[in-house]
Amino acid sequence: MKGIILAGGLGTRLRPITHTGPKQLVPVANKPVIQYAIEDLRDAGITDIGVVLGNLGRDDIQSFLGDGTELGVDITYIVQGNPLGLAHAVGCTEEFVGEDDFVVYLGDNILNDGISDLVQSFETGDYAAGIALQEVDTPEQFGIAEIDPDGNVTKLVEKPDDPASDLALVGIYVFSPAIFEAIRTIEPSWRGELEITDAIQELLDDGFAIDSHVIQGWWKDTGKPEDILEANRLVLDGRPGSLDGTVDSDADVRGHVDLHETATIEGGAVVRGPVSIAADTVVEGGTYVGPYTAVGPNTRLSTVHLENSVIVGESEISSDGKIVDSLVGKGATVTSASGLLPEGRRLVIGEQSNLKL
Ligand code: DAU
Repeated sequence: MKGIILAGGLGTRLRPITHTGPKQLVPVANKPVIQYAIEDLRDAGITDIGVVLGNLGRDDIQSFLGDGTELGVDITYIVQGNPLGLAHAVGCTEEFVGEDDFVVYLGDNILNDGISDLVQSFETGDYAAGIALQEVDTPEQFGIAEIDPDGNVTKLVEKPDDPASDLALVGIYVFSPAIFEAIRTIEPSWRGELEITDAIQELLDDGFAIDSHVIQGWWKDTGKPEDILEANRLVLDGRPGSLDGTVDSDADVRGHVDLHETATIEGGAVVRGPVSIAADTVVEGGTYVGPYTAVGPNTRLSTVHLENSVIVGESEISSDGKIVDSLVGKGATVTSASGLLPEGRRLVIGEQSNLKL
């Protein structure tokens, strides 16, 4: 069994964060989203992995993952270029996959329970595809599966206007090489993309057996900022915490806190887990870091009240106000304007930024 991770696309729903880097490298609990996919594949015994790259952030992804050795896998890069759809991206992997069965993992998905069950179930039958499903509140934003009373998949539709089911296709699939012929048969969808959902429907139409499971643990597609924050909450919730860095004696630290060995919480700071603080970051006195916050590397926090947020890293945050439910991109600074005249907020905002003042 081989693994494929799709890491192309434009990440438009995550702009401005994705103006300068791919969404698959946005950190959740201080770990890039794509690393969760690599680890899930590895933990299911799949180490021969093809990573499909688009045009955006190609070098960044390659320099982060390298040849995979550090993560215990062997990575081959496959260039898709323009994002012509998930089925097109999968089609680009045909030579790499050869005659093997393979898992396709969307590089922006995170799954709580890993993929071993899905893979094992696929291997016990004569299936052309294995899909994972979960009930969602907004089925029109996903690929949707209709199933009969016996649990068999009868129909798959990509982002229907009027969904007949609330069972969404999770972004992890198992395929036999039969999928490549199906991909050659389909036409672009209303959004101009070759949809993997349509290719699986083609397999169904051709009489192939499809394995399907409704998964129980949480699953997140991290396509939008609020999804990153929620994935961050979910991952931090499951962490035991480990105070490996320096905590000054009069700092007040409670709950599950992951503190990197080179990070510092200074006296007078208050930290309430679950929180993750990365390498070389300093939390100064007078700062409050509240639950569900991940602060990336090389960041200095002073006199700020920060909660339920992701700070990607290399930042200075010294505002005297409250910052909540926020996603702060790499290298961004947030400082205080109080005391400066004329009074007012002072902003340097990149394209498609999103501020709630
Ligand atoms: O997250 C689950 C959903 O993922 C499914 O329910 C949908 O059926 C499926 O189509 C997909 O929908 P999205 O609209 O969320 O897919 P997105 O365009 O965000 O792409 C998913 C990943 O694949 C992402 O890491 C970018 C990558 N990608 C995307 C396209 C369009 C590629 O590598 N190449 C592409 O051409």
